[in-house]
Amino acid sequence: MHATPYHLRLADGGDIPEIAAMSRCLIEVGLRGWTWHPARVARALQARDTCVLAAEAGGQLAGFAISEFGDTRAHLSLLAVKPVHQRRGIGLAMIEWLCESALTAGIDHFTVEMRANNFAARSFYESLGFRRQQYIAGYYQNIEAAIRMRRDLRQPAAREIRNFS
Ligand SMILES: CC(C)(COP(=O)(O)OP(=O)(O)OC[C@H]1O[C@@H](n2cnc3c(N)ncnc32)[C@H](O)[C@@H]1OP(=O)(O)O)[C@@H](O)C(=O)NCCC(=O)NCCS
Repeated sequence: MHATPYHLRLADGGDIPEIAAMSRCLIEVGLRGWTWHPARVARALQARDTCVLAAEAGGQLAGFAISEFGDTRAHLSLLAVKPVHQRRGIGLAMIEWLCESALTAGIDHFTVEMRANNFAARSFYESLGFRRQQYIAGYYQNIEAAIRMRRDLRQPAAREIRNFS
């Protein structure tokens, strides 16, 4: 059986409810409250320094990423792929798209935080050239620790990984 082809595009207003729901179910699961609610996703869509990227498969949202672009640093705020579409290279494609865009914008590194016990995400980012930078106790609501990871966009190693993928 062939997997449904996917493509990347910029998210729009019609994606807001599903991005917020995916944030709640796939990223904020187990935390108190809902911080990436629809109004916050809508603000991200309107912010000039923020890119909201969507991956679409079969006419449906398969994944998304929200990233902020600064002068020298880009920060990945959220990234998720629906379970049925995972391990098909969609997360990798979104990260590469964002890293290429950041590099073009003159940015030299990308950072991301994730729950310290999210070993799947840690393996994912490590496979893409991100390296552990910091352990931050209590980062999530003073309950859970985070790992901050960083990818240097101008390092040869990162370039080789991009060219290889
Ligand atoms: C992390 C996540 C975005 C990865 O997306 P994905 O589209 O499935 O990832 P890819 O198919 O592009 O994987 C690329 C590589 O990353 C690594 N990887 C991905 N998922 C992994 C997992 N669950 N366990 C170990 N390694 C993994 C593998 O090396 C993989 O290559 P391979 O499939 O050829 O072995 C996805 O699992 C997800 O949405 N998780 C829930 C939300 C989350 O934790 N987000 C990140 C924190 S904000």
